[in-house]
Amino acid sequence: MTIERFIAGLPKAELHLHIEGTLEPEMALALGRRNGVVLPWANTSELRAAYDFANLQEFLDLYYHGTRVLIEERDFHELTMAYLRRAGAQNVRHAEVFFDAQAHTARGVPFATVIDGIWRGLREGEQEFGVSSRLILCFLRDRPIAEAEEILDQALEYRDRLVAVGLDSAEVGNPPGKFADLFARARRWGLLAVAHAGEEGPAEYVRQVVERLGASRIDHGNRVLDDAALVHKLARVGMPFTVCPLSNLRLGVVARMADHPLQRMLDAGLLVTVNSDDPAYFGGYVNENYLAAAVALGLDEETLRGLARNSFAASFLDEAAKRNYIAKVDSYGT
Ligand code: HPA
Ligand code: ZN
Repeated sequence: MTIERFIAGLPKAELHLHIEGTLEPEMALALGRRNGVVLPWANTSELRAAYDFANLQEFLDLYYHGTRVLIEERDFHELTMAYLRRAGAQNVRHAEVFFDAQAHTARGVPFATVIDGIWRGLREGEQEFGVSSRLILCFLRDRPIAEAEEILDQALEYRDRLVAVGLDSAEVGNPPGKFADLFARARRWGLLAVAHAGEEGPAEYVRQVVERLGASRIDHGNRVLDDAALVHKLARVGMPFTVCPLSNLRLGVVARMADHPLQRMLDAGLLVTVNSDDPAYFGGYVNENYLAAAVALGLDEETLRGLARNSFAASFLDEAAKRNYIAKVDSYGT
């Protein structure tokens, strides 16, 4: 079996996926037309040509610009269905999906519109494509804490639809510790916590996410390798890392895929998973991420199986569901 076919058939979970980052150029232009939002790009090739980022901030500027076409409930529903269709076709059996509510409410789109559209998409997508899901509300760390507090108030009216809160957007200069009280409040409501850290920011931010936000997973986390004692501790407790190889390449976190720290993280005993982050912007969905890493780093089938096992182990599924999926990974391709 070729490595492409092995990856294509491998059952897997995706744990680091921004639903707004699945907005393909074709859909962005179509929704722009439907909603009367004028975009600065005339066609998909102009839009794709703009996807040339030097760093996280350049990407975020384009990403938030793209969100402006998402206005009606059906826009969020269609976006979510399109992602789950692709995920199902790539043998993603379970997806834990981030959404950036503040990117929408700050433009005057009601929280209810956003969560109702995504929620309906997740429910229909599960029926149609067989992909189960959980939903994670991300706070934007480069916006005021008071705004995040208000969003949490609104989100708590939909407590049952959420499994966790997260933290994303521009990392450097926005340390996780700033959000300790907010996360404590979310956790009192029984929500789990995840947070982006160590993508562009230092290992110290990874430490804060664990020690001050009570996170159950680290999103990205590459820079943890700069702190050997922290690596040792997080390996020992089995803290999961949601690594995104093509994102790291496209945002200049690594200069070449061959330099990617994924293998070093595995060698250090960390619980690593592979994810697509913002697949419409970074040149690939989850299978393309597995493939790019496998080719550049020479990952063999057992290592790929291990990454897929980790993706279920690190998910917020119940223990029985995890065991069931992990057994499917164990018997895959043998
Ligand atoms: N990093 C930080 N914030 C984000 C990202 C990312 O990769 N994608 C969407 N928001
Ligand atoms: Zn991300």
